[in-house]
Amino acid sequence: MTGLRQTQHLAREARHLAPGASEEAVHGRRVFAEGRGPVLTDLDGNQYLDFAAGTLTQSLGHGHPEVVEALTAQARRLWNVHDSATADRADLLDLLARLLPERLDTYAFFSTGAEVVEAALRVVQATAPPGRNRIGALRHGFHGKTMGARMLVHWDIGHQAFSGNSVLGYSPYCYRCPLELEYPSCDVRCATLVRRHIAEKPNVSALVFEPVLGAAGVIVPPPGYWERIADACRESGVLLVADEVLTGGGRTGAFLASDLFGVEPDLAMLSKGTASGFPFAVLAGRAELLRRPEAATSGAYASTYASNPLGIAAARATLEVVERDRLIDRVRVLGEIMEDRLRVLESRFDRLGQVRGLGLLWGLEFVTDPVTRTPAPETARAVYTTALDVGLRTSLGGHMLRLAPPFTLDEALLDEGLRLLEKALERVMT
Ligand SMILES: Cc1ncc(COP(=O)(O)O)c(C=O)c1O
Repeated sequence: MTGLRQTQHLAREARHLAPGASEEAVHGRRVFAEGRGPVLTDLDGNQYLDFAAGTLTQSLGHGHPEVVEALTAQARRLWNVHDSATADRADLLDLLARLLPERLDTYAFFSTGAEVVEAALRVVQATAPPGRNRIGALRHGFHGKTMGARMLVHWDIGHQAFSGNSVLGYSPYCYRCPLELEYPSCDVRCATLVRRHIAEKPNVSALVFEPVLGAAGVIVPPPGYWERIADACRESGVLLVADEVLTGGGRTGAFLASDLFGVEPDLAMLSKGTASGFPFAVLAGRAELLRRPEAATSGAYASTYASNPLGIAAARATLEVVERDRLIDRVRVLGEIMEDRLRVLESRFDRLGQVRGLGLLWGLEFVTDPVTRTPAPETARAVYTTALDVGLRTSLGGHMLRLAPPFTLDEALLDEGLRLLEKALERVMT
């Protein structure tokens, strides 16, 4: 239950705050006052384990001392000199060159996920051969809410979809297979169709994709899906543009999720996992693309907050800790524990239709019953609010919950969070 001070605070806010907040904020009705590591405290003094890690941003938890120190020192020195070089930028560039695959050796910096997706689309358009004027995307993909990004999003998230000039392919959503087939006897037909409609089309310049579809409830492709599509794109000159805004930075157990599926993107966008919640985004690409004169025209990668010194300081500090403390290894270890525990819950509760995920990124899909698989948003919402009441914060979207704890969590707190989830599931579903 939302405490008294929070209730009063929310009532005061509501007088002037535009509606249209996320489902999490609307149904959670919490006023958070402080974050320390994996723990949040609200205005009434209640504490929560944050298994949404901010909005999948806090890979190091909240207020990591080294990030706070780097940001504070930078805040004392310098805030904005447009995209001129600052002291930390060369360090961050070198760090990214160590963490990312060798072929992605050229970088531009931005401030949000949607902004970096737009930048990638501009590079695609500027470098596309004549006649290749369409862009491929996947059903259930999410890429942001600016117009270029929205063009690739074919579901009404926030506002109505606006499909523009994009071509849509099937995502590997086996639980609700649009072709009504079963894996593996389907022989990954969805991938064959993506190949036919996007990868092999002479008028398509690029396929923009989430290697694992995050906002749609963590859709993890089965073996064979990406292999088939990536090879065909490569052969026919369709650029592979990996939107790793959510997955990039280690959350899936590799620095880029694309690596796990053997996809070698030409461009990759990262944001959430890079700078501990400070607005920051990276466009990583092959030098041949990002340095091509048509793409790299004067000012092409500049904007008011692009290459912002504060963002660079936060990213450098965050990624240094990820590298130094070998946190991606930790993601894999914790991910295995999480998978075992979540599978038990999946088999115990009928209305928990499917649990999917990898590393520290998990989706729970709720249904009214396991046979019809009718989506049950009210159940997801009830589990979400009950979990908050018992001290666990998760991420809510429609009939899905996502779990994405910080990489720095210890095993005892992982266990505690999963115990709280179980308690919430029991309260709602038994
Ligand atoms: C894969 C992906 N791309 C792009 C975005 C848009 O990022 P932002 O909200 O920072 O604009 C998101 C946001 O959740 C995302 O998950």
